[in-house]
This record gives sequence, C-alpha cells and structure tokens, in this order.
Amino acid sequence: MRQFKLSIHTAAALFATLILPQLCQSHNGPHPSVHDTVAGILNRFKSTLSTDEIVTIDLAKAKSLLTEKEKHILSHEHISFHVNIPVKVFIIRDASMGDKPFWLKERDFKPLGLKFKIQNRDVDFWVKDFEAGRISLGINSLSGNDHHYGVALMPLKPDPNLEVTKMYPGQLRTAAMKEGVKPFVDKNEALPALPTVLSGLTIVQTVYKNRNDAKLIGIYRKTSYPSGPKPDQIVLTWANDPTTSQTIQWRTDKTVNKSQLQWIKKTDFNRFQPGAPKIIDAVTSEMLNTNYVNDPKIHRHTVNLTGLEPNTTYLYSVGLDSANSWSELSEFKTAPNKTEPFSFVYMGDAQNGFDRWRSMITGAFRKRPNAAFYIMAGDLVDRGNEIDDWDNMLHKARDVYDRRPLIPAIGNHEIQGGHPTTYLKLFDLPKNGPEKIEPERCYTFKYSNAEFFILDTTLAPKLQTEWLEKVLSASTATWKFAVYHHPAYSSEPARDNKKVRNLWTPIFDKYHLDMALQGHDHAYLRTYPMKEQKRVATAKEGTYYIVSVSGTKFYDQDPRDYTEVGFTNTPTFQILDILIDGNKLVYKAYDAEDKIRDEIVIEK
Ligand SMILES: [Fe+2]
Ligand SMILES: [Fe+2]
Repeated sequence: MRQFKLSIHTAAALFATLILPQLCQSHNGPHPSVHDTVAGILNRFKSTLSTDEIVTIDLAKAKSLLTEKEKHILSHEHISFHVNIPVKVFIIRDASMGDKPFWLKERDFKPLGLKFKIQNRDVDFWVKDFEAGRISLGINSLSGNDHHYGVALMPLKPDPNLEVTKMYPGQLRTAAMKEGVKPFVDKNEALPALPTVLSGLTIVQTVYKNRNDAKLIGIYRKTSYPSGPKPDQIVLTWANDPTTSQTIQWRTDKTVNKSQLQWIKKTDFNRFQPGAPKIIDAVTSEMLNTNYVNDPKIHRHTVNLTGLEPNTTYLYSVGLDSANSWSELSEFKTAPNKTEPFSFVYMGDAQNGFDRWRSMITGAFRKRPNAAFYIMAGDLVDRGNEIDDWDNMLHKARDVYDRRPLIPAIGNHEIQGGHPTTYLKLFDLPKNGPEKIEPERCYTFKYSNAEFFILDTTLAPKLQTEWLEKVLSASTATWKFAVYHHPAYSSEPARDNKKVRNLWTPIFDKYHLDMALQGHDHAYLRTYPMKEQKRVATAKEGTYYIVSVSGTKFYDQDPRDYTEVGFTNTPTFQILDILIDGNKLVYKAYDAEDKIRDEIVIEK
C-alpha cells in the first residue's frame, strides 16, 4: 500500500480551502466539439503559417493564435456532466504539468497544496465550487503527451444524494473515491490509499486516451527523408511462396503515377550477350501523411513476382524509362525447393537510435552476406503510425532490405494509436494467418527445412492458439521457429506476459518448437531449453526462448531461474546457420563490436 504525502500545506489550510465556498456560474451555452475546433485551428495554422513556423510552433505562440471563442471551447467542452446539488470540483493532475491545462487558472481553480503519488507520479489538486447544473471542463493539454487529469466531486454541504448525470463523452463513469478505484475508464491504474479528507468523494472517471485531443504542438513535422521522383525505400518481402515468388515494394513522390520493375535471371545477365529483362507494371497506391509539411502525399509501388525458379538469383531494378529513374541494379534470391543449408539474421527492437542500428544491420550483412532474410521481432520503429520514423528506419536499412527480404512481426510500437495501419501499408506479407485476425498480422512461411510462425502479441494470444496448433501440427519442417514481440519468458518480473507463456508454450512443447525469437524487453536473454515452463537438460527436449534488442534503448534485467545467458545495455544481432551436414543449428549473437556474446549449437 502506498502512503500519501501531504506537502507543505497543513491539513488545517486544506480544510479551510475546502469549506470556503466560491460559488460561480457554470457554462451553459452551446458546446461545439473540441475535435472540430482543434481541426479548425490546425487548418488555420497550415494555411497562414510558413512551413518553418508551423514545424517549430511552441505552446505560447499556439495559444496566442487562438481566438477567444476557440479558447472558450477548449476551456469548457472537453468533458461535461450535470450535478443535482452544489459541489466542489477537484481536478487531480500530474504535478509535473506546470500551469497546464491553461484554463485552470483562467477559470479560477485554486491549488490545494495537497500532493500524493499514483504509480510513482506526484499528483496535485485544483478546486473550484460549482452550483447545481451543468459543469463543463476543458482539454487536458495543448502540447500533448501529458497524463489525463482526474475529476472528483464533493457536495458543498454534507449530502449523500449527489447525482451525476448527462455525462459527456458517454464513456465517463462515476465511482466512490477510495483506494483501488481506477481514475480512468480505459487505463489499468488504481488510486492508492487516500487522505481521510478525500475518501468518500465521487470520482468522475475520465477517458485517458482523450488526453491528446487538443494537441497543437508537434503535430506538423518535416521528415528528414522526403520522397522524390526516383524510387527509394526498396524493400523485399514474401507475400507468397518464397520458392517461386518475390514481393518488391518501393516509394516515390506523388508525381510518379506509374512505376515498373524489370528483372532477369543473374545467369542470363552475366553473358557476353545478356538476355532481355522482363518488365512489369507495379500496383501504385497513395499514402497520405498529412502532418508532414514536406511530404504530405507519397506513392507506394508493389510488384508481386510469381512463377520464378526456385533457388535462383535474379537482378532487378525499379523505375521508369521515360522518367530516366531506374534504381541501381539489385538482386534477390528465391528459396530452395529442397533441403539446403542456409543462414538468416534475427534482430530485436530497432525502435530508437537508427544511426547506431545502421551499423548493426550493415554489420550483420558484412558478417553473413548470404544470409537469406532478416527477421525483426517487433518494435521496428518507435512511433509506428508516424511516417518519419519509418522513413528514418528504411533509409538506414538501404542496401540491405532491397536484396534480402525482411520478415517482420508486430510490436506494441507498431500499433501506436491502436492499429498497425502504417506497418500494414508498408509491407506486403503472407495472408495465411488465423481467419478471425486481420490478414498479414500472423503468418507462416517455409524456407528449406525450416518453418517460421509469426504471431502478433499485440492481439489476444487466445485468438491465435487454434491456428498455431493447426499450423504447428501440420508442419513437417526439421526446424521450427516462432517469431513474436512480447516474450514468454521476460527479463524482469514487471514485464511478465503470462498469457503468452500459458497459452502458447504448451503448444510449442507439444510440437517441439526449436526457438522462439522475441523482443520487447530491451535486453538480451536466452533461456535454458524449456518444457512445461521448466528447465530441461537439452534442446532435444525443450525450446530456447530468446529476447534481444538491436536499438539503443535498454531496460534493466533481473536474474531469473530460466535465464542461461542474460545481459543488458548491449544491442546485438543474431546469425542462425542451418547446416544440413550433421543437421545442426549454429546460433551466435554478436554485439556492435563484432564480439560473440552468446553461442549455442543444436543438433538434431
Ligand atoms: Fe515493445
Ligand atoms: Fe520496444
């Protein structure tokens, strides 16, 4: 149980403030939505400010550009409700918010001088008295990224019959304010033990996800890597059978309405009289990034080549003759249609520090140039629905992902705002996942004598168990790998993912998965071989679970019973060599200095 802390104000001062009524009139006028008002403000910024002004606008400047009417709406119409008796309204707010939200002082709310901690955050209280009737409160912040304030009500005279009705938005709820009650309807956060004076108040549970509804700062940005007429961000994936197909995707600016791919078998090209390349039109689609002042609309182009020869290297280029825009020759190689030795690379979260990550991915490419593909176990970027993060990451992956396919999984950062919209637009992937799940979020593919099962831990694990059981039970592969983001065996207790462990590891046990390639914990961890959630003696009996990180953000790690190798503060990339002669898997984790940090060999 957490203790509350009274700040320098004494309890007497607190009571004095609470019992001094400062009745005032609540706003009863028409209430246009904050949403429409903010959209109007942002449109006006866009049409009246220069590109540089709009990108660098700060809070003071944004506020100075608001009309009185806009300020009034932002100060009054974020949430509202009716009360049947006069009440004191408490705004419970993150103490680090300074003088935000701006309307608190302007509307004469007074600080109480009382602070306590909720989940290690200091919160403070601002109060004001209201008559019976409609009470409306303003937006959370103009700068965004603050915790949402909470609201509590106390009858001005002792009265057990306080009724709160006509709540807007409709998700708002009320509850008696006491330890364990959630201040937000949509966040798993509970109130600690409360000072006696606060217990028994009525809390109006607000909607946490609406905290950025009036964000005016940092909305418009410039991407450092805007599109141009020449193709870039060329990325290989496999949407179909890797033995006979290749998917190629790239980007141009919006002026390029048509783009093509030409390709030729490498052996046909490397002759005195090379054969003619084949040519195919790409499917072109528009992608709107309206918050990017220097790249609001781009075109993405996709070609799905099918009917290719297995185990064959092709050269290709994308662009257009008439635009003189062909990309430099690059290559891809189809998967073998029989058992062949091969290698692949696996990386955990890239997410932050892409300059450094560039050295990881190029290091992996130099170390094993013939690695067949690159697995990334989620959190490829930090802000999954903001295109500049992807622009940065794909720029740093240039010269690698245009010649070795990317095999991605979805992490929590890909679903920024709730859905992996940008991720799904960027990557064309196999559509062979569970029926009840949006296509491409889970999928499976085979390569040589291995099969890979890519899962989405941002969706409920139970939605995927039936499919997982079906595809694993049908698999005839010698080597079986699962790829997903939230680890079944976490590197510290607070990051535990019980559902993943309880629902999926029994299926991995049953069909003897060799390795689970995971991310999320921003540290390196390899378990002992595990079966039935216990350590077993050899990989023949159990499954290795690996967490790794390839970016520059790190979390602490606790010693756990299941950890055979664990460390943090070190990004790594992993190379897995599947050897046929002897039926071996050689696994090595390398750090940025090219040192081997972990190594295992599994023999079948
Ligand atoms: Fe994550
Ligand atoms: Fe992450």
